[in-house]
Amino acid sequence: MDGKTPSETAITTYQLMMPGQSNPSWSEDGTLELGSINGGAILNLIDNVAGLVALRHCRTKVVTASIDRMSFLNPVHVGELLIIKSSVNYTGRTSLEVGVRVDVENLTTGSQHQTGSAYLTFVALDKQNKPMAVPPLIPETPEEKNRFDQAKIRRAERMKNIS
Ligand SMILES: CC(C)(COP(=O)(O)OP(=O)(O)OC[C@H]1O[C@@H](n2cnc3c(N)ncnc32)[C@H](O)[C@@H]1OP(=O)(O)O)[C@@H](O)C(=O)NCCC(=O)NCCS
Repeated sequence: MDGKTPSETAITTYQLMMPGQSNPSWSEDGTLELGSINGGAILNLIDNVAGLVALRHCRTKVVTASIDRMSFLNPVHVGELLIIKSSVNYTGRTSLEVGVRVDVENLTTGSQHQTGSAYLTFVALDKQNKPMAVPPLIPETPEEKNRFDQAKIRRAERMKNIS
């Protein structure tokens, strides 16, 4: 099976945060206001984007097997732009780790800061929904090789916690 480089399948996507994605918040006088963006809404976007990257790598059905711990470093607000960057870090036999970095841009000032990152493991499935081999990853750049090595260590830790 031919391998693929991370850059062949990487995705950067942008999402304007809308009121429907926010949590309710109340001012001191009890008036309802728009709060920060709901963490679950951001997790949903992360899973969708990472799943697309996994699908582009495997070109078959993929399912999310696990999402590693996700910390929200800063709140995200309505009207801010979410920048979601995602690429394959590592491939096992039938699974692959996809990394996601989430940045936020203030559209009026242009300033950007990171709000979080996550590692997701997907498993490729065949027509009978059985795990099937994935194309091996070919990390090219020093950064990609470092990500591959770090992901291998994470995978070993993850498997200890699963079994
Ligand atoms: C993920 C799933 C396919 C694994 O099935 P399984 O019979 O345990 O498969 P295996 O034991 O043969 O493992 C297959 C691969 O998945 C990996 N894996 C299994 N469970 C995992 C987990 N919880 N986290 C990370 N990797 C996992 C294994 O390490 C293996 O990888 P490798 O081939 O690269 O070494 C199965 O648990 C499943 O279908 N889960 C539901 C997935 C789903 O529907 N997600 C959407 C949200 S509901």
